[in-house]
Amino acid sequence: MAKKTKAKLRVGIIGVGFIGKVHLEAFAAVPDAEVVAICDIRPERLEEMAAEFDIADSYDDYEDVLARKDIDAVSVCTPNYLHAPITIAALQAGKHVLCEKPLTTSMTEALAMTNAAKAAKKALMVAFSHRRRGDVKWLKQAVGDGMFGGLYYAKAMWWRRSGIPAWGAWFIDKSRSGGGPLIDLGVHMLDMSLYLLGDPRVLSVSASTWAELGPKGKGFYYPPAHDQKFTVEDLASAFIRLEGGKTLTLEASWATYGKHNDAFGVSLFGSSGGAELEVSDYSNKDTLRVFTDIGGAPVTMRPAPEIGHGHTTVAREFTELILNGQPTKEVGLDGVRRAQVIEAIYLSALEGREVTVEDLATLL
Ligand SMILES: NC(=O)c1ccc[n+]([C@@H]2O[C@H](COP(=O)([O-])OP(=O)(O)OC[C@H]3O[C@@H](n4cnc5c(N)ncnc54)[C@H](O)[C@@H]3O)[C@@H](O)[C@H]2O)c1
Repeated sequence: MAKKTKAKLRVGIIGVGFIGKVHLEAFAAVPDAEVVAICDIRPERLEEMAAEFDIADSYDDYEDVLARKDIDAVSVCTPNYLHAPITIAALQAGKHVLCEKPLTTSMTEALAMTNAAKAAKKALMVAFSHRRRGDVKWLKQAVGDGMFGGLYYAKAMWWRRSGIPAWGAWFIDKSRSGGGPLIDLGVHMLDMSLYLLGDPRVLSVSASTWAELGPKGKGFYYPPAHDQKFTVEDLASAFIRLEGGKTLTLEASWATYGKHNDAFGVSLFGSSGGAELEVSDYSNKDTLRVFTDIGGAPVTMRPAPEIGHGHTTVAREFTELILNGQPTKEVGLDGVRRAQVIEAIYLSALEGREVTVEDLATLL
């Protein structure tokens, strides 16, 4: 008797710019998924991606993808301000959604998105790809095994020397991005550090933001276009109090006069050990340090776990969640929680005050 083959997850990708291409590569590496359609408003990019990944159907209107009955799920890879309307429309059309980070640009929209997922009984997963790195997975296991004792302090950072993303002016336009490096890079580090700390409740946030280089046309990857207005921050710094006496500091920059060309990481400090993850210029070599005592003497170790494949892991987890019949286990809650902290950080910086748990609750 012929063996019944398992149905593949049929996926559409909406927005095939920089990260849309990464989603195409990621799903290509997941045997149980198949990208059957792509969508973008740039015809030349659509043509290029369709040819490179051998995709049969291309659309310039995402509603056409959502109207396809044979598509189970979509990846939303558009600029940030389009995440909410496209995700909500997709959920209401009965599709599961893998949405790029940040989930969206405001708490109100983030809540509407998770509510739409719950109402539709469909998955809404945020592509927090850096949390799925192999070294982060190793750290999470080490934290769970009690290697560092009780964690009480963490520092997370993403620093760039000259890394303002000029391509697609939407990044530097607050009305389309929701913010600068904090919502772009900082959201990854906020997610990674809160995940490693076991997702403690955030009690209050005190923050500052600056825009010292961007508005002067400094610190861009490439020279900015003359008509580009810089309406976001280029550096954000936040002090975040967490339940249980824990504290997290978060720094995110696109451009600063500092030693890092492009580096991100998190340091964890515990009662019997500590760890530092630092990734410089996207090099995956030698990213971890663990600090402990052996025989009464301080010891530094350099674990070398498998590095992993961020977006491929995201695509595989998303596919498995749906094919295993548990889509509603992911309704975007991590994205909502991160959106709340990001909004609190911007509010604190704007008003020059600490934003407390009561303010945070009203944001929700
Ligand atoms: N997880 C990560 O590490 C990571 C890395 C980079 C970007 N991102 C996120 O991915 C998203 C896109 O970023 P990017 O760097 O790919 O930007 P991008 O500008 O390169 O790509 C966005 C694409 O969306 C298309 N688009 C715009 N409006 C559209 C519409 N109405 N319908 C269909 N397509 C439309 C654009 O033409 C473009 O091709 C952002 O939310 C960003 O934060 C995530």
